[in-house]
Amino acid sequence: MQNDVGKVLYTVEELQSRIQALGAEMAADYKDKNPMMIAVLKGSFVFMADLVRAMDIHCQIEFLAVSSYGNQTTNTGAVRLTKDLTCDIADRHVIVVEDILDSGLTLNYLMGYLKNRQPASMEICTLLDKPDRRQANVYAKYKGFTVPNAFVVGYGLDYAEQYRNLPYIGVLKPEIYE
Ligand code: PRP
Repeated sequence: MQNDVGKVLYTVEELQSRIQALGAEMAADYKDKNPMMIAVLKGSFVFMADLVRAMDIHCQIEFLAVSSYGNQTTNTGAVRLTKDLTCDIADRHVIVVEDILDSGLTLNYLMGYLKNRQPASMEICTLLDKPDRRQANVYAKYKGFTVPNAFVVGYGLDYAEQYRNLPYIGVLKPEIYE
C-alpha cells in the first residue's frame, strides 16, 4: 500500500503534534461545557479518536454519516444522511469533526441540518482545509492544516475506499488514479 504514495505530506509525528495542540486549545475553550463531539463518517474516524484523547475535559462522542450524490468532480451539493444522531443536541455545545473541508458542500448541509435541532452553540473542527476548491461559505474555527489542491489520502482519508489505514497523510502517485 505504501508504495502507492508519491509524497508524505504530514508524518505521524507532525499529525500528533498538531492534534495535541488543537486538543489543548479546544479543551480550554470547552472546559465545563461537556461538548458534544460529532464526527462525520467515515473519513474522520481516525482524527476523532486522536482528537478526543488530546482533550482532558468531559465530552460526549457521537457519529453522523453522509453520502454525497455523484463523485467529487460532479458534486451537485446534494447530501444524504445515512446515519443520524442517537441523542438530542438541543441546548448542547456541538463540535462537528471532519477530516477535510473541501468544497464545503457537506458541512454546509450538515450545519443547516444540525442548527434545526437548536444546539446552544456549534463550531467546526477540521483536520485539513483545502480552500482552493471551496463552493460554499463554511467557517471552521478549528483547523489542523491548510492543504494544497492535491489528492490526499491516509489517516482516515480514502481513495476508492482504500488507504484509510495509512498512518500518515500522503499524496498518491498519479498513476494510481489516472
Ligand atoms: C469527505 C470528507 C467530508 C467531505 C468533504 O467525505 O470526509 O465529509 O468529503 O468534502 P466537501 O467539502 O467537498 O463536501 P467523503 O464523501 O469522501 O466520504 P468519507 O468520509 O466516507 O470518505
